[in-house]
Amino acid sequence: MKPISRRQALLLGSLGVAGTAAGGAGLIWTLASRDAPVTGSDLTQPPEERSTDGRLQVRLEAAPGQLLLAGRQAAALGYNGGIPGPTLRVRPGDVLRIGLVNNLAQTTNLHVHGLHVSPEGNGDNIFVSVEPGGTFDYEHRLPDDHPPGVYWYHPHHHGMVADQIFAGLFGAIIVEDPEPIEASAERVLVVSDTTLDGLGNIPDVSEMDRMRGREGELVLVNGQRNPRISARPGQRERWRIINACVSRYLRLRLDGQQLQLLGMDSGRFPTPRTVDELLLAPGNRADLLVTMTTGDSTLRALYQDRGDMRGMMGSGSGARNPADQPDGAALATVRVTGGPVAALTAVPARQGPTDLRSGPVAARRQIVLAAGTGMGGGMGGGMMRFTINGREFDEARTDITVAAGDVEEWTLINTSPMDHPFHLHVWPMQIIEEDGHGTNPASRQDVVNVPANGRVKVRVAFRDFRGRSAYHCHILDHEDLGMMGAIEVR
Ligand code: C2O
Ligand code: CU
Repeated sequence: MKPISRRQALLLGSLGVAGTAAGGAGLIWTLASRDAPVTGSDLTQPPEERSTDGRLQVRLEAAPGQLLLAGRQAAALGYNGGIPGPTLRVRPGDVLRIGLVNNLAQTTNLHVHGLHVSPEGNGDNIFVSVEPGGTFDYEHRLPDDHPPGVYWYHPHHHGMVADQIFAGLFGAIIVEDPEPIEASAERVLVVSDTTLDGLGNIPDVSEMDRMRGREGELVLVNGQRNPRISARPGQRERWRIINACVSRYLRLRLDGQQLQLLGMDSGRFPTPRTVDELLLAPGNRADLLVTMTTGDSTLRALYQDRGDMRGMMGSGSGARNPADQPDGAALATVRVTGGPVAALTAVPARQGPTDLRSGPVAARRQIVLAAGTGMGGGMGGGMMRFTINGREFDEARTDITVAAGDVEEWTLINTSPMDHPFHLHVWPMQIIEEDGHGTNPASRQDVVNVPANGRVKVRVAFRDFRGRSAYHCHILDHEDLGMMGAIEVR
């Protein structure tokens, strides 16, 4: 049996779909007009759970159901009955306990993406498997100096990650600032994509789409289709944006309003950067200040060329995705009306992280991300292999061993004609060189895009924690196909 059919059978089983009507011709729900209509509904916020006295204890139940998605009932998967799941708000130094309940018909687990916490035991351990009907109690102790910012959670059971996220399993984690930044409003914007057919089912994904990395036809914010955000002129809002799409890159624009980027991933810049445009690879997050000027504007995700497999596979993927219009998918509509409000004070400068460029390097490694028609795959049929340093993921094998406390320099090399967003768990990366050019400010990211046929040099300080964890392509279809490795810090 092909592993893909098995996954699909499990997913459909878990959704309680009677027969697979999905995938029939003409049932795919396409966008008739260029922009999704403004639904008229205001952007909603996922429910929030906030720590008190240094502790947050939550129960997250992953389950199938008829859930509200893109303004309709859809047969999807959610945490605690919603898409996205609840937003978890914690502070540096807190203990975050998550009781995961698996009411899916398939194995799952939970990864806290970007948090600098232990990967061992009941920490951020992706090697844990929670079987259907099972539970697992995770405990994450955030260091006192944990960087504030935007993080997220999602399943990480190898082979099923893309399917489970595409079906709705994800949520936001915010690590609050020790000294608050003034804002007139704060919003979480979890951007995801999926596809629904006429019956509200998520159709099967073809092998070609898995190899390319699936992109849904609906690009949603907090599960909503083009919701409205209302504000008054002069308001400065804080937007916490997460790219929870399985494979879609988000090149975001909000023409007409003023954008200042506070940081990306766990990296906070010393002073905010004024930007017109923002590129979030799958898994990346942005901490953004939006100052409202006037009028209406649309938050758009512009088409981003991430390369393709043409020439390797013989043909492109055929039909154009309706979300890929030349002027992009409309994610949300901002309406600025009413009397102006007084401007807020400038954001105070803060100290950036230690610059790893000046210190010693204990080891240098090359990490080669490759996609190619594989020898001896056994299945024939032109399945491509997605490898790191020539190998597909094997849970029993440790690919890289690092001495705790060392700073290492990794050259990420992409030999394929498509981009791969490289993600390392637990220990954030500082980009020091992109395609031969040095990069300047010391910042930290946990997803770094490695362009098609390009290379990026990063340095990583393997501090604070020991244990076994993973690095992988965050086009999660590629991860499921094997583009992942195991690392042990000891
Ligand atoms: Cu967001 Cu290893 O993943
Ligand atoms: Cu990839």
